Amino acid sequence: MTNKAIYVQPGGGFDRVTLGNSEPSPPKAGEITVRIRASSLNYHDYAVVSGMWAPTVPRIPMSDGAGEVLAVGEGVTEFAPGDHVVSTFFPTWLDGDAEVDDMSTVPGDGIDGYARQQVTMPSTAFTRAPKGYNHAQAATLTCAGLTAWRALMVDGALKRGETVLVQGAGGVSVFALQFAKMAGATVIATSSSDEKLARLEALGADYLINYRKDENWGESVRRLTAGRGVDHVIEVGGASTLAQSMTAARIGGHIAVIGILSGVTATLPLLSILTRQLHLKGLVVGNRRWQMEMIRAIDAAGLQPVIDRHFPLEQIVDAFRYQESKRHVGKICLDI
Ligand SMILES: NC(=O)c1ccc[n+]([C@@H]2O[C@H](COP(=O)([O-])OP(=O)(O)OC[C@H]3O[C@@H](n4cnc5c(N)ncnc54)[C@H](OP(=O)(O)O)[C@@H]3O)[C@@H](O)[C@H]2O)c1
Repeated sequence: MTNKAIYVQPGGGFDRVTLGNSEPSPPKAGEITVRIRASSLNYHDYAVVSGMWAPTVPRIPMSDGAGEVLAVGEGVTEFAPGDHVVSTFFPTWLDGDAEVDDMSTVPGDGIDGYARQQVTMPSTAFTRAPKGYNHAQAATLTCAGLTAWRALMVDGALKRGETVLVQGAGGVSVFALQFAKMAGATVIATSSSDEKLARLEALGADYLINYRKDENWGESVRRLTAGRGVDHVIEVGGASTLAQSMTAARIGGHIAVIGILSGVTATLPLLSILTRQLHLKGLVVGNRRWQMEMIRAIDAAGLQPVIDRHFPLEQIVDAFRYQESKRHVGKICLDI
């Protein structure tokens, strides 16, 4: 079989994942053809493949793709054959604020994604990969890496000496921990597991809280910060964590509202938002310019992403079952 591709059939579900083909068209003006070598799993991809956010047409899943350029179309000067590239989450959101149309073309959801061997896309749907990264490492950046980067460095304007709270040992949170340490911040990490907390400590977390053993972890975070609270929260838990995150944040603190792991509808203590003058900032990944800025910073700092495990493309369902088990720390990758 040439140019293999994974498809999720309408309705989604692990039993509706099939192996097929996808032949890329030759690159037209402004396009590049890329041999995709790796992808990485995100909760968003899990939602599409498992059927939670089921596709209505046969869909090639996965928002993240990294590989090497095979051919470039007329007028493409940014890339040449052989260059190592990584996809962007929003192929048309290049800079500034997003437009409505940008939101509907996420690879692996609104359009076909990167669970395939070759793809032809506009060259602006990729950036160069960090220097010295292999393809799997590069593939961790499209969604999880950029989300953490934007939350802290773009929206949060993180300063040296500030304190950041990260929740759980998943892809976004581990990147946030790494970027926060890179920027000279103090990190408080929560997790459901003491074993994972030990891994987070080895990655630089300064304070550790097991949120299963400490239900009022928001107050514990305040105590750890001498009553002040943290400057930034990487809020990935959603419905069951937001109120604790608000307790944990300092007056005027920044809560990056990112995830929905424990549900999408929360009851909010409004009085706390206004009396504590909190900044709740929703975000979805980010634009191409921020990805380029993140990659320059990674090059300068030599930051290495944390990859828990690799699966071959054909074992994509096993990879998602592993993600579902929540045994991972950092990212799970697909080798293509
Ligand atoms: N807005 C955006 O742009 C954006 C971008 C990427 C991801 N997200 C969202 O962010 C969330 C995390 O994504 P991800 O890709 O990092 O997921 P992931 O790698 O699958 O991480 C999941 C981990 O989060 C932790 N967790 C699970 N339930 C939790 C809870 N109730 N409270 C605190 N931690 C919990 C668990 O780690 P422990 O066992 O260590 O606690 C779990 O292993 C998802 O909701 C995803 O949709 C949003």
